Amino acid sequence: MTYNFDEVVDRTNTSCIKWDARQGVFGNPEVLPLWVADMDFRSPQFVIDAIAQRLTHPVLGYTLRPDSYFEAIIGWVKRRNGWSIERDWIAHCPGVVPGLNVAVLAYTNPGDRIVIQTPVYPPFFDAVNHNGRTLVENPLTVADGRFVIDFDDLDQKLAGAKAIILSNPHNPVGRVFDEEELRRIGELCLKHGVTIISDEIHSDIILPPHRHLHIANLDERFAAASVTFMAPSKTFNLAGLSTAYAVIPNAERRARYLHVLEQQLHLGMGNIAGIVGLEAAYRHGDEWLDQLVTYIKGNADLLEELLKAMLPKVTLYKPEGTYLAWMDFSAYGLDDDALDRKLIHEAQVGLNSGSTFGTNGRGFRRINLACPRAYVKEAVERMARVL
Ligand SMILES: Cc1ncc(COP(=O)(O)O)c(C=O)c1O
Repeated sequence: MTYNFDEVVDRTNTSCIKWDARQGVFGNPEVLPLWVADMDFRSPQFVIDAIAQRLTHPVLGYTLRPDSYFEAIIGWVKRRNGWSIERDWIAHCPGVVPGLNVAVLAYTNPGDRIVIQTPVYPPFFDAVNHNGRTLVENPLTVADGRFVIDFDDLDQKLAGAKAIILSNPHNPVGRVFDEEELRRIGELCLKHGVTIISDEIHSDIILPPHRHLHIANLDERFAAASVTFMAPSKTFNLAGLSTAYAVIPNAERRARYLHVLEQQLHLGMGNIAGIVGLEAAYRHGDEWLDQLVTYIKGNADLLEELLKAMLPKVTLYKPEGTYLAWMDFSAYGLDDDALDRKLIHEAQVGLNSGSTFGTNGRGFRRINLACPRAYVKEAVERMARVL
């Protein structure tokens, strides 16, 4: 069947953050909101149906994750990106961000140095700073129009560090790191005895011709040094269900994670809708996802075309993965406040401000392309009118 991602679904008055928090976030309730990373598409009917079916039983008590849940994860990870994982390796977390924090607590001590690759998803800063660890930045650099890793700097920054938090695919710059890059990261982490905390929540949204590689699947030594976080939340628009998980192949490393998650914080319990929703998504979602990725690629192509035609001074970093695109507005010579006034209050477009991703994000804006194509067109037209 063909899914209709052009459909406009009215999300207002559902308490959704993207639309219903506009006044608080932007100071303008009328912006076209293309910010927080969830999708404006309906969640797939096969997920809704599975949850509805479970709700026909009226008791919603404490619930185990059944064998079929683990089988669904194992099947999905193997089918989509070729990684054979074992049931024992799978641990839980209410969300990837809580999981990152559990990993920080499990593998590092207060004061320890943790490396992140900026500009990057803001909760990476918090996972380090709010747990009393020391933030070390390995800023990404631009070469040939794409963001790349400065490996000399990474080598220096990893010396004396305890962990690195990777975003692969990378939010916000949209890179899908290739095999050579991942092997170099892995070897440097082994050289310096650094734990790899790999956030791969976007690993299902890979735009052709790119291909996602799990760093832990490239080398058994990387697997032993790593914890990989994934979820169906971005992929199937289920962020409200809190359904993330960690894959930790090394038994000793897993035990440390589980100790913090289950004994210290008591966060191991799932929720019924999330357990059922994950399983339905991973069992029935291949075709839906393939069509989604094609649609998002179409939105990225359209954004590129419209920017070239209407806002040629914006430099677009077209995503290789994720449904997010990173745009550099600095050629307009406006400071962030002036650019916000233009975009939020004159154009009425709600994007993520680049500076929230680190100081090297200043002058950039992140746009969310997981929306009907008409929104992308509308957003660029509105911005072009005021710039
Ligand atoms: C890189 C990255 N990690 C984690 C998350 C959120 O994860 P969760 O909602 O499972 O905590 C996001 C959401 O945008 C993200 O982009």
